[in-house]
Amino acid sequence: MSQTLRIIRPDDFHLHLRDDAQMQSVLPFSATQFARAIVMPNLKTPVTTTTMALAYRQRILTALPDKLKKDFEPLMTLYLTDNTTPDEIKHAKNCGFIHGVKLYPAGATTHSDAGVTDIKHCYATLEAMEANSLPLLIHGEVTDPDIDLFDREKIFIDRVLEPLVRRFPKLRIVLEHITTEDAAAFVTSAPDTVAATITAHHLHYNRNAIFQNGIRPHYYCLPVLKRERHRQALIKAATSGNAKFFLGTDSAPHTQSMKETACGCAGIFTAHAAVELYTEIFEQANALDKLEAFTSINGAVFYQLPRNKTVTTLRKEPWRVPETISYASETLVPLRAGEIVHWKATSTP
Ligand code: NCD
Ligand code: ZN
Repeated sequence: MSQTLRIIRPDDFHLHLRDDAQMQSVLPFSATQFARAIVMPNLKTPVTTTTMALAYRQRILTALPDKLKKDFEPLMTLYLTDNTTPDEIKHAKNCGFIHGVKLYPAGATTHSDAGVTDIKHCYATLEAMEANSLPLLIHGEVTDPDIDLFDREKIFIDRVLEPLVRRFPKLRIVLEHITTEDAAAFVTSAPDTVAATITAHHLHYNRNAIFQNGIRPHYYCLPVLKRERHRQALIKAATSGNAKFFLGTDSAPHTQSMKETACGCAGIFTAHAAVELYTEIFEQANALDKLEAFTSINGAVFYQLPRNKTVTTLRKEPWRVPETISYASETLVPLRAGEIVHWKATSTP
């Protein structure tokens, strides 16, 4: 008998679904694995208004295959700009479908050009979020070109996040896709209003993966992978049972041709095997008893959502990840392409 685990069906608290035919290609992977997902608003035209978020939500629901329609709920977000108004925040809250507002420092990552140039421009809007209990989701990197790429998260915490937490003591904040021991330590010691998502790829790989016998664009994401010491700190945080840490894949599809080029895009696709990749880490850390809290409980509690009612079964069963996955009219290269994943997840109604 192979080893079997049953957990509450997981949620993904950080996901890029893209749009149109590309969304059609990747959405079934997330909808198979997750009951709900916080959908990132960094489309080519950023999702900056409630109206745009509701239209995007409708496109996601329409794109869901019939057999998954009842299994997946997109949790929408707004893209914060220097010009987002407090009124827009009230609309967002009142519509009932928007669960967070995403702060991209302008220029920090894919489709972030319309992001915030200085957080001071957003104070009135952040006050409205605090008053309306709408969480702020943060891409936590400074964009100052003088700052070393590998230090951008740590400097962001010191310069922006720490003062922000003090200024807005009731604002719920998620530091997204944390990559450093500094971030894990900051979140651990911060007030309960502050939480963090952790990706599967930052738990599995350190920065050596990007340079293994040559340049490996499929391991390039933002924030970039860090040294082994940081990866170990993330594993410790994820498997600690601390309710401040929860699953957010940051699965970020790009076409193979946009990754394998002289100036490749940032982003790693993991939606095809996300829950299994996390399970591998928890098994290696001897912490399978902490898996369910991380994948299926802590995030829902932080976002004030009910617990999922269905169950996911995980079997210790090796399977090989395909070399490529079709992505609209092109292909994408998933994480672990051509390699073995050691667990297999199935949902049970
Ligand atoms: C994301 C994307 O491609 O949209 N890329 C990434 O490397 N994670 C954007 C982001 O979350 O930074
Ligand atoms: Zn992301």
